[in-house]
Amino acid sequence: MHNLGILISGRGSNFLAIAGAIDAGTIPSARIAVVVSNVPGAPGLDAARQRGLPAVALDSRGRKRAEHDAGVVDCLRQHHVELVCLAGYMRLLSPDFVRAFPHRILNIHPSLLPAFPGLDAQQQAFDYGVQVAGCTVHFVDEELDHGVIVLQRAIPVLPTDDARTLASRILNEEHQAYPEAIARVLSGRFQVVGRRYMESARP
Ligand code: GRF
Repeated sequence: MHNLGILISGRGSNFLAIAGAIDAGTIPSARIAVVVSNVPGAPGLDAARQRGLPAVALDSRGRKRAEHDAGVVDCLRQHHVELVCLAGYMRLLSPDFVRAFPHRILNIHPSLLPAFPGLDAQQQAFDYGVQVAGCTVHFVDEELDHGVIVLQRAIPVLPTDDARTLASRILNEEHQAYPEAIARVLSGRFQVVGRRYMESARP
């Protein structure tokens, strides 16, 4: 059984999509071992509790990044987490955190990286006038929205879109893409060569 640790800061819709995919059997042999939020009032924490999952608030306010991250890493280790999934976790990870889980931390970002890293990616894409938008699941490194890309999903920007409708359609893609990327990574059938994520042939 693969233990997932989910890190959130907010509503947690990607966390719920992952939980739903596990229930539906589309992420084989996986369970959510713990949900951690750096924001104690995050709605996603309540959603985790309602599902009977261990939900831990580790408030990051006023704490040095390295100190806070050491607490999160401890918590993940206590729950025997193998793969860490950032799902709307609004913090850059410290080098020690990244080193603690080599190629074992994923993030989802609502743009086709490397375009539009950072906050309000969907608004940035819409304002730029792109005709294709989407989302990216990537391994996490020490730079913002930067690590090796595992999976991307593209959607057209429609003439009728505004930034809100675009964000909502990207979010639908996120909810498909994240579970799929997790299943692929957990299968172990991949290599990272430079910046390239390469899947090996199925046996
Ligand atoms: C998503 O758009 C995700 O791509 C970004 O933050 C948002 C989190 O949404 N990193 P939710 O908390 O999963 O609903």
